[in-house]
Order: sequence, then C-alpha cells, then structure tokens
Amino acid sequence: MSRNYMIYKNPNEAIEARVKDLLSRMTLIEKLAQMTQIEKTVATSYALTELSIGSILSGGGSGPFQRAAPSDWADMIDAFQKSALKSRLGIPIIYGTDAVHGHNNVYGATIFPHNVGLGATRDVDLVQRIGTATALEVRATGVHYTFAPCVAVCRDPRWGRCYESFSEDTEIVRKMTSVISGLQGLPPPGHPNGYPYVAGRTSVVACAKHFVGDGGTYRGINEGNAVLPFDDFDKIHMAPYVDCLSQGISTVMASYSSWNGSKLHSDYFLLTQILKDKLGFKGIVISDWEGLDRLCRPHGSDYRYCISSSIKAGVDMVMVPFRYEKFLEDSIHLVESGDIPMARIDDAVERILRVKFVAGLFEHPLTDRTFLDVVGCKSHRELAREAVRKSLVLLKNGKDSKKPFLPLHRNASRILVAGRHANDIGYQCGGWTITWHGSGGNITRGTTVLDAVKATVGDKTEVIYEQYPTQNSFTNKDFSFAIVVVGEVAYAESLGDDSELKIPFNDTELVKSVAEKVPTLVILISGRPLVLAPEVLEKIDALVAAWLPGTEGKGITDVVFGDYDFEGLLPVTWFKRVDQLPMNAGDQSYDPLFPLGFGLRFNSGSQQTE
Ligand code: GLC
Repeated sequence: MSRNYMIYKNPNEAIEARVKDLLSRMTLIEKLAQMTQIEKTVATSYALTELSIGSILSGGGSGPFQRAAPSDWADMIDAFQKSALKSRLGIPIIYGTDAVHGHNNVYGATIFPHNVGLGATRDVDLVQRIGTATALEVRATGVHYTFAPCVAVCRDPRWGRCYESFSEDTEIVRKMTSVISGLQGLPPPGHPNGYPYVAGRTSVVACAKHFVGDGGTYRGINEGNAVLPFDDFDKIHMAPYVDCLSQGISTVMASYSSWNGSKLHSDYFLLTQILKDKLGFKGIVISDWEGLDRLCRPHGSDYRYCISSSIKAGVDMVMVPFRYEKFLEDSIHLVESGDIPMARIDDAVERILRVKFVAGLFEHPLTDRTFLDVVGCKSHRELAREAVRKSLVLLKNGKDSKKPFLPLHRNASRILVAGRHANDIGYQCGGWTITWHGSGGNITRGTTVLDAVKATVGDKTEVIYEQYPTQNSFTNKDFSFAIVVVGEVAYAESLGDDSELKIPFNDTELVKSVAEKVPTLVILISGRPLVLAPEVLEKIDALVAAWLPGTEGKGITDVVFGDYDFEGLLPVTWFKRVDQLPMNAGDQSYDPLFPLGFGLRFNSGSQQTE
C-alpha cells in the first residue's frame, strides 16, 4: 500500500492500525510535542502549528475571561484546535480541565456535591448519572477531557483533599467509580480490560487520580509519604484502579505523593510494572501539574534528570504546564543521547494517539454547538438537588430520641436563619469552583440555604436572617426555631491541610449562643468531619452534615422540612478528638463519635449503619 494512503486519516480503519501508521510518520519533535500538555495562557499558534503540541489545559479558574459563557469557551478551544489542525500531520489537541464536581471552572454550570457527599449517598446509579450530566456540560463548552474522578481513599481527614475522596472505605470508593461510565459512557460487553473507552461526542475522556495512595500519606500531609507494606497499599489504595480499568478509563494521573519514600512520578514499579504490565492499562499516564519539577525540588537536581526519571518510570504525557520549550529541549537531548529509549517515547505516543482516536477527535475536532444550553440546565440542577438530598447525614435529631426535632415545620411563625454559610454559594460549593481554591461570596448561579428556606416555608412564616445574631436579635422576638449554618471556608490541596479540624471562625460560640435561646438545627458545610465538642452537641437540637453540597441548596430544605427522609450514611469516621487520628473503621482501637456508616432517619430514630 503506498505511503500516500494515510491509514490514520481513515475512520474505517482499525484504531491500532491508525495509531501505528501515524506514529510511523512522526518526527522526534512531533512525538515529544504530543507528550507535552501546556496551560492555555502559553498556548500560541507556533506551539500548536509548528511544534504540534498535543494537549492544552485550563488550570483551576483559568478560562477565556471572568464569567465567560459556554460559547466563549467553545470559541477559545476551537481557535486552539484550528491552529493544531494546521500542523504538518494535523493531529488534533485534547483539551483538559478539572471538572471534578460538575464543570466547575465555568460560571453558571451545575455544581454537584463534592465526592465526600456522593460517597455518603452510596448510590452507584446516581453517581453515574452525574458523570453523564457533567460530561455533557463539559463537551458543550468544547472541552474534551476532565481530570476526574479522584479515586483517593482518604484515610486521614487532616488531608486537605479529603473532600475529593468518596470515602475512607475502599469498597465504597470502588462502587463510586461508576462515575467513569457516566463521564466516558458504558463500554459494551467484551470491551478489553484496560483499553480506553469513550462513547461519543457527549462523553469525555476521564482521568483516575492520583495514582496511587494520595489519600494514605502520613498525618494526611498533602503530597506526603504513604508508609505501608505493599499488600495493605494494594488492598486499600490500588483496588479502585482495577474498577477504573474495567470501565475503560482513558487516563490515569500520577500522584505527587510518595510510597515508602519513592515518589510516584518516578516509580517504575507502580507506574509501569503494576499499572501497565500487571493491570494492563493501555491509556495515558499523565503527570500532575509541574509534577516533574517537584521531583527535582528536594534534591535540587536538574530538570533533565526529572524528565528522564519520570518518562522512564512510565509517565506518557507531561502537564508541564508553562516551560514547554525547556521540556522539549531537554527531552530531545535525553532521547538523542540514548538516555530515554525511543521505544519508551513510541509507547507513550501510541497511548496518546490511541486515546485521541478513541475519543473521535480526528473525526470531530471542533465543538458541537447544538447543546450549548445544557450548561447549568434545569434537569441537571434537579439531578444535583437529588444528590444533595441523598448526601445529607443526620447525626442528631432531638435532645430526647423519643421527641425528634426534625422535620421542621414549614408554617412556623418565625424562623431565624444564621451563620456565615447560610447565604454563601461559594462556601456551599467549596474548592475547585470558579477558581482553583474556590472562595466565599456570590461566585456563581445557585440557591443558598437561606434562598431555599425562603422558598420552602409558608407565606405566613417570617424568616429572619442574621449572619451573626446578637443579644438584641432575640429581644421581643419569639423564634419557633433557628437554622444555623456554619463550616469550613473554601480550600484546595495543601491549603486544606489542617491538624486541628475545628469549626473555623470560632463559630461554635455562635452555635452555642443561638442554641441557648432557641431550638436549633445546625447544618455543617464542610469537606470532612470537624471537632464537635460535647458541650456544643448537647446544646443543639439537631445536626446535619451537608458536606460541600454545591449550587442546589434546595436539596437541603427538601429533607429538613420533611419532603424526603434522610438517606445519607457517613462515608468517613467522625472522630471525637484529632489526637485519635488516623482512625478508620476496622482499626483495633476504634472509638469514634459517629462510626463509618452512621446516619439517622426521621422515623427510625435509631441510628442506621451499613
Ligand atoms: C493540581 C491537582 C490535580 C489537578 C491538576 C490540574 O495540582 O493535583 O488534581 O488535576 O493540578 O489542575
């Protein structure tokens, strides 16, 4: 067959034949460029057309401009794509972003509960449907690829990323990987294990992260060191990846953390011998953001050393994301000098091309604009509201279990709504929302708890909102009850590492001051369990863990006012004191305030555990 017939351009040819044909036509620079992922702020037409850079990402909060519309995202990404298609071989880029609880970089997108709340639902089907909805909103904006799901097993809530983990329990995390078949589509029976699968133009390329053991580090220190024998490491942290591969996960992101002192980004045994050889992963291993640079930091070794050790360990695509010329220059040297074998480069590029062919990017490189209006649409917000309802965990209901406090009366005469988190959509969504770390305030379209209460109560009910009630707030005012909403600020990654885990701003004083005067429901907005002092717990009438529920606050009032019963079960152990940590179900000395699997119901009164 003549070389003029380009197999790779023919969608009727087998994917592996297209991969091999295209690879055989590529120069060393084109191959290394395909292994390079750059941040959009440095993506020039030179990089895309002349160098044939393979991938672009939007880092947390990095979009076209503030409050950009879905069409603005599609315009931006299609412009990059058109530059890439002008390259010598016309290889399309794959554009990625962190859509980790909805398309959270995009203003107005549906923001679902963070993974810890989804773990509380135990609902495999719900999580799959959330994946499907998220994929639709992501593709509607032109993005092809999300760095989700995080399948960490968070063993210590002092870890700043515990809310990105579905649970401390491996089996719960394994079940929740069903989000992958929502994001990518459900592979047909017989789909080969470990081979990437993407159903079509309403599905996205997904990314299981962070391989492996990110949630098992000493004292929960982010990017720290997980110290445990391989058998335990395998049983606790590796197991969810087996489920990811069986669902055709297309990419796996290496963890910043280490295992027994070996940094994952340069661990050949785990990245290649286990993930690729033993488990049979045929997709892309991608580095984390500046993951190679962090290999160098402690030793001060040069970047070239870090490129060599990570690529040879099994990293296929490098989220550089800024110094791509340096990365290319050093990589060319390492291959030409024989340090990195060409066979390793070819394997990496084959994996990248495979995912791009599987995702249909060669046939459909540009955005399908027919569903731009699904971003933040009503049906997705209803789905998010369902998820909120099912994620809530009722920890206390009444000072006397025979006199339950919930459900609340929607026709009460006067209700006090108080607390820093009662009317703050930013805090309600948490980290990875609009910006990398997230923030308080009116950051996107949604329904706060206060909005939801006002929309739920009878028209004769007076709702009074005081963020910080004072003594005067109660003078000559009889409140039927108070709803006090407190919790954590928005945070991400190491900024969330916390060794004290107290309710911030000393808001326990606020809770106590209200609860001393009025029957009080406390709603805790947090990414993890926090210290609940006995004197606080006994003063309040009811306590609900709402996790980081996202934009649909009505999911909370649906339940606390009794339209739905509670279903949520703790996905993590609720400790009494931080000096007990780490403490997980199954430990010999297990003495929690509330155990893994705890959750009350209206009518049962007694606790439910799995
Ligand atoms: C971050 C995170 C990772 C994320 C990546 C891109 O540092 O560790 O989870 O996908 O960078 O934003």
